[in-house]
Amino acid sequence: MKLANPSLLPSLSLSTERFPGLLDEARTTLVTKDFEHVILEVAPGPGAVERFLAWARANHENTPHVKALHVGIADPIDAEGFALLREAFPEAGLLTNFGVGLNHLDLEAATRACFRVTNTPGVLTDATADTALLLLLLVTRDAAPALASLREQGCYEGWKPVARFMGQSVATKTLGLAGYGRIARAFAARAEALGMHVVVMESARRRAGTARPFSEGNGSDPVRLPEQEFLASCDVLSLHFPLAPETRGWLSAERLGQLKQGAFVLNTSRGEVVDESALSDALQAGRLAGAGLDVFQGEPVLSEPLRRAPRLVVLPHMGSATWQTRRAMGRLCKDALVAYLAKPLPE
Ligand code: DGY
Repeated sequence: MKLANPSLLPSLSLSTERFPGLLDEARTTLVTKDFEHVILEVAPGPGAVERFLAWARANHENTPHVKALHVGIADPIDAEGFALLREAFPEAGLLTNFGVGLNHLDLEAATRACFRVTNTPGVLTDATADTALLLLLLVTRDAAPALASLREQGCYEGWKPVARFMGQSVATKTLGLAGYGRIARAFAARAEALGMHVVVMESARRRAGTARPFSEGNGSDPVRLPEQEFLASCDVLSLHFPLAPETRGWLSAERLGQLKQGAFVLNTSRGEVVDESALSDALQAGRLAGAGLDVFQGEPVLSEPLRRAPRLVVLPHMGSATWQTRRAMGRLCKDALVAYLAKPLPE
């Protein structure tokens, strides 16, 4: 393998956490007879930039050898952060993100500071679609309070035709997907297997004819509906937007008001796409039959209105949290690092 600068022994990359698959696999791939690349976990602290800079201040004799930085989705880096990193790590050119969402990184600032940024798309599609399915069944069957109640009481009230925990069948219900990327498509396949009817919200770009064609459809193309018709048709609305200025707060009180009485809402994308006070009001008022969230604003702290909201199932952002998926994500970070270090020097 031809390395960017084999004369620096060892070179370093810094990681904000222990990312499964990154450390162990990089160790075996990158430690060769003429090159050593060491990945150091930076001590925990308030944020990625602060942690990296604290490391740089404490180890300034090694600082120029840092080639790559590894962050997770809870490590925001803004323009000022990238400028500080550029100054502290003059040789670093790669920043891998352990996750697919890149909304926490200022990508324009990263480019200006000459960092190449990679993420981990594809490998977490199935795990996240499974999480959407888990939320779908938990909320439609009211299963979370049923589980808690049986644990707490040690018995249930006895089998009855009309019992305390009654739910809704999902077969024949309409699942509406707002956002139709990889995860939404994988969720659509699961929902169709349950007998649901899937519709997709027509995006503004698609309406304008400027959207990219879908490359990995799951068989037949689903029905696309304009926004108002889409919202009115959903028994279950599932959000799959990346967080961007145009999707921030997208599920507003107004849009919630356009859903059917008794609809369900699911979110496995980012908490910020939902107006959470409008969501908890709709749950309190009984306009929504339930909601299932894997993500919420201000993570990891759940807001009081969400803690108090009835018929709400909230998971601690565990969409990609299977060992297989997290290892695969780490492996993609490692692959990006290996490819970056192997990049031939410009002539
Ligand atoms: C991602 O990768 O963006 C997910 O939210 C992590 O679970």
